[in-house]
Amino acid sequence: MPRLNHSPRPGASLTVLGIETSCDETAAAVVRISHGAPTEVLSSVVLSQVDEHAPFGGVVPEIAARAHVETIGSIVAKALRDSEVGAAELDGVAATAGPGLVGGVMVGLSFAKGLCLALNLPLMAVNHLEGHAVSARLSEAAPYPFLLLLVSGGHCQLLEVAGIGAYRRLGSTIDDAAGEAFDKIGGALGLAYPAGPALETLAAGGDPARFPLPRALQGRAGCDFSFSGLKTAAARMAEGLASDADRRDLAAAAQAAIARQLADRTARAMDIYLPSHTPDTRRLVVAGGVAANGTVRAALQDLATSRGFTFLAPPLAYCTDNGAMIALAGAERLAAGLTDGLDVVARPRWPLDAEAARLTPTHLAGRKGAKA
Ligand code: KG4
Ligand code: ZN
Repeated sequence: MPRLNHSPRPGASLTVLGIETSCDETAAAVVRISHGAPTEVLSSVVLSQVDEHAPFGGVVPEIAARAHVETIGSIVAKALRDSEVGAAELDGVAATAGPGLVGGVMVGLSFAKGLCLALNLPLMAVNHLEGHAVSARLSEAAPYPFLLLLVSGGHCQLLEVAGIGAYRRLGSTIDDAAGEAFDKIGGALGLAYPAGPALETLAAGGDPARFPLPRALQGRAGCDFSFSGLKTAAARMAEGLASDADRRDLAAAAQAAIARQLADRTARAMDIYLPSHTPDTRRLVVAGGVAANGTVRAALQDLATSRGFTFLAPPLAYCTDNGAMIALAGAERLAAGLTDGLDVVARPRWPLDAEAARLTPTHLAGRKGAKA
């Protein structure tokens, strides 16, 4: 895989505004990268629409797009104000251009285009998944290359990340994403959407061994994922539960089963990653909203330790959707000369590794949730 220079030239720095509107968070941030220095997040503003969607049990695209339109101006203004960076000091503007709910993506992307026109700045159209892929680099030295487990509400993938724009997909879900499983099982247990964080709280103190749940693909070759059997089995069991203790135990069992599958599949990906990489590049990065889960993190940390990998996970604020990860991906793109014309379009579907998606199109059909 070709590797691009993702860092500014010696002595230089790049300051980029990033905008994220692909689902139910309106987010903007200003990030600065400098040659040989840690990434600086100068501001990061995230406005969640969760209360507006909660009555409907999921994200309603029309409500999301309208809410983005109403708030994008003030969120971007706040990000600029908080960063104490004047618009004249910006080197470029990055916006999520997909995948996601296309109405929302268009709001952020159009706003970014307007800013680029007004300020005569380059535009970077960022793949939302690329934002998650670089998110660990916001707070830690996570040099390329690394093995990435991307686990969010809409995606569950294992990728080899060679550099900005250089991805090889090693495995992907054949049905649901891990976050979707958390959300659906949590919903069956009576928790409000998005149910992942509440399920984690409910599971605390529960007995993960009491309810037997299916172990899909466990020990199977390759590193694809499957969560629909587990999701259906757990949702069925939830129907007959009488007590809070029962609900706690089932939540713990579901969480443990999801964490177990993520670790099992990641172990397979390590087997694929290792032969073509030197020992000093044994790095496992986890990103996406599900990376906020303590049981998932612990399972991956144990795996990494046992296989001699360094384990890197972004702070919780950068696991879920945010503008800083989009700004950083944009800044690294700008450093590599990867800018986009103002005619770039919003893409509801946009695989990070287009070649893998072409060869295994079944993975495309599995993605059904609103989140990307
Ligand atoms: O990355 P994200 O904010 O949005 C995208 O999907 O792109 O991820 C949201 C997902 C939701 O499914 C949510 O339930 C899940 O991440 N999530 C969690 C936790 N925090 C967020 N799942 C399990 N445990 C958590 N603590
Ligand atoms: Zn996301």
